[in-house]
Amino acid sequence: MKDYKRILVTAALPYANGPVHIGHLAGCYIPADIYVRYQRAQKQDVKFVGGSDEHGVPITIRAMKEGVSPQQIVDKYHAIIKDSFEKMGISFDIYSRTTSPVHHKTAADFFKKLYDDGLFEEKETEQYYDEKAKTFLADRYITGTCPVCGNPNAYGDQCEKCGSSLSPEQLINPRSTLSDAVPVKKMTKHWYFPLQHYEPWLKQWVLEDHKEWKNNVYGQCKSWLDNGLQSRAMTRDSNWGVKVPLPDADGKVLYVWFDAPIGYISATKELTDQWADYWCKEDTKLVHFIGKDNIVFHCIIFPAMLKAHGGFVLPDNVPANEFLNIEGEKVSTSRNWAVWVHEYLKDFPGCEDVLRYVLCANAPETKDNDFTWKDFQDRNNSELVAIFGNFVNRSLVLMHKLCGGKVPPFHNAIIDADDKQLMEDIGAAKIKITQSIEEYRFREALFEIIDLSRKGNQYLQKKEPWKKASAENEQQQIDNCIHLSLQLTANLAILINPFLPATAQKILHLLKVVEKMLDWKNAGSFKLLSVGYTLRAPELLFRKIEDSEIAAQVEKLRTNAITGSNTQNAEKKSADGNADQQPANLLKPEIVYDDFAKLDLKTGKILSAQKVEKADKLLKLEIDLGFEKRTIVSGIALHFKPEEIVGKQVVVVANLAPRKMRGIESNGMILMAEDKNGRLHFVNTEEAIAPGAGVS
Ligand code: 2FM
Ligand code: ZN
Repeated sequence: MKDYKRILVTAALPYANGPVHIGHLAGCYIPADIYVRYQRAQKQDVKFVGGSDEHGVPITIRAMKEGVSPQQIVDKYHAIIKDSFEKMGISFDIYSRTTSPVHHKTAADFFKKLYDDGLFEEKETEQYYDEKAKTFLADRYITGTCPVCGNPNAYGDQCEKCGSSLSPEQLINPRSTLSDAVPVKKMTKHWYFPLQHYEPWLKQWVLEDHKEWKNNVYGQCKSWLDNGLQSRAMTRDSNWGVKVPLPDADGKVLYVWFDAPIGYISATKELTDQWADYWCKEDTKLVHFIGKDNIVFHCIIFPAMLKAHGGFVLPDNVPANEFLNIEGEKVSTSRNWAVWVHEYLKDFPGCEDVLRYVLCANAPETKDNDFTWKDFQDRNNSELVAIFGNFVNRSLVLMHKLCGGKVPPFHNAIIDADDKQLMEDIGAAKIKITQSIEEYRFREALFEIIDLSRKGNQYLQKKEPWKKASAENEQQQIDNCIHLSLQLTANLAILINPFLPATAQKILHLLKVVEKMLDWKNAGSFKLLSVGYTLRAPELLFRKIEDSEIAAQVEKLRTNAITGSNTQNAEKKSADGNADQQPANLLKPEIVYDDFAKLDLKTGKILSAQKVEKADKLLKLEIDLGFEKRTIVSGIALHFKPEEIVGKQVVVVANLAPRKMRGIESNGMILMAEDKNGRLHFVNTEEAIAPGAGVS
């Protein structure tokens, strides 16, 4: 292993076109933060840089649709994302943004150097252009009929019905999704980076020199390299982004995946005048934390760019995680199937560490994993509350009861096998946890910490100090048991600190010790607390999470997803204009006629509509079904003003079991059409139909 003098940790720059969800946290921000906090406790020279990725096609398109400027879009989401990270304790040394002047200059200079060195190929090609919207169209923004299955809504890069990979030329009747215009072909010039020239070097560097990289990362790189690399356009036609720094390049900007990783360099420049130490000295350890959809960019394209430029260090490791699914389904920002971090923070104030815990304990380190609210509750209640929190609390309660509120002495003369075993367990746990963190196996490390606190509980259970009378000899046994339990509590604070920093702080407060105790070198010591020192009264570290809180979250997830009511995320696609990695299936599994026949669909008329208090997405509707009037709560408030919809005709699922939403009983559901941008529409017929007519 190389001897490093400093560590530079980066975490993927999230697109500023929507808030972050828990999949983002689990994918890279929590592991990166654990690693950095651990290195800080090891007293390493470490810097942690991040920021928002503020360029790319979806931002301009969203701005166009919302009638605001791209700057307004990124300003809004940069602030939301930054705030979510801060509140979750993601301890960036700098959280910058790619619209910063330093970044524009750094990225433009980088491009210019490659250009001046003659490393780009200049090519003119024909690309689809929308004359109405006056913009070139990324493949994803062209729709048409799939030549394979006839789906009329296939995209220019893929048909989501039959799964075929397509190119826009193959679509029958192609149309622009922006203006519905028929796109035309237009010549345009771009600068291509010939990745194939770097293939032999990459094969050596990744496949031979970095065999230690995680299997999922190594495997993806190998498959890219085995398939052969090709030139890739590093510029785009757009007015939003880093301007191509060449005289004949009006209306051209750097490709977002060219400029974004350079954002790590720019952010380091903004952070410190010593930035070049971190980027240019060979004894820097550079680690990129990312999600699996970013692997090729960080392991192949960016390293090739750095190599071509020269003078920069290359990543030592890229410990990418896989994806986190939610309640058994893939995250889909366009369907709003996601748990948003800013909403979690509002719903569970003071429970930031609980989310950090669950997302690390269940992290998708080697394969995709599933987040369920039930598992969230179980892990909180039966691990954090019942094991870790319980041990710390018992140690303090017993100390107050049996030792006068002070750290009791340790009597070496009567040390027994259980005491020795516990001391050994602490030492062994430190070694294992250290190794696991160094090798990016954070779940394993966290498991060891919980296991150590479980051993603490078993130790107390075996010793039963509360049963001992206070005869001289027995008081000494009580002292030893409580003394060791308190030293273990202090050790647990050190070990848990990278994972649950707020919890470590609470323990410091209870033990009345200073921050310095959390230095990693102190773990394994039994002299962290001085004999005779008075400690504070115990306070619970974690609270129980109730069934009703979990039920409310599950309901929220389903209500929001069914109604697609979070329109703000309708287009959170990757910034080069491609869709989410995991598009939602267009069709649900086939049903038989009997399934359909169970539905009782009736026509209805909206008699009144009003906002539901403290629920920005819900409207309470009174519906006339002809034979009766119904109250239905519907998640359409972000799409329609109440007064706009009174008198509208709707189809109602009339035999849906009643369900309470925000305390109001909802009796049925209204059906709406959702377009591909996530907007809802009434499915109108020209004719008025009397309420109560059957629909079949
Ligand atoms: O996938 C994403 O969210 C990208 N915005 C990540 C960019 S990482 C880096 F290269 F900036
Ligand atoms: Zn198809």
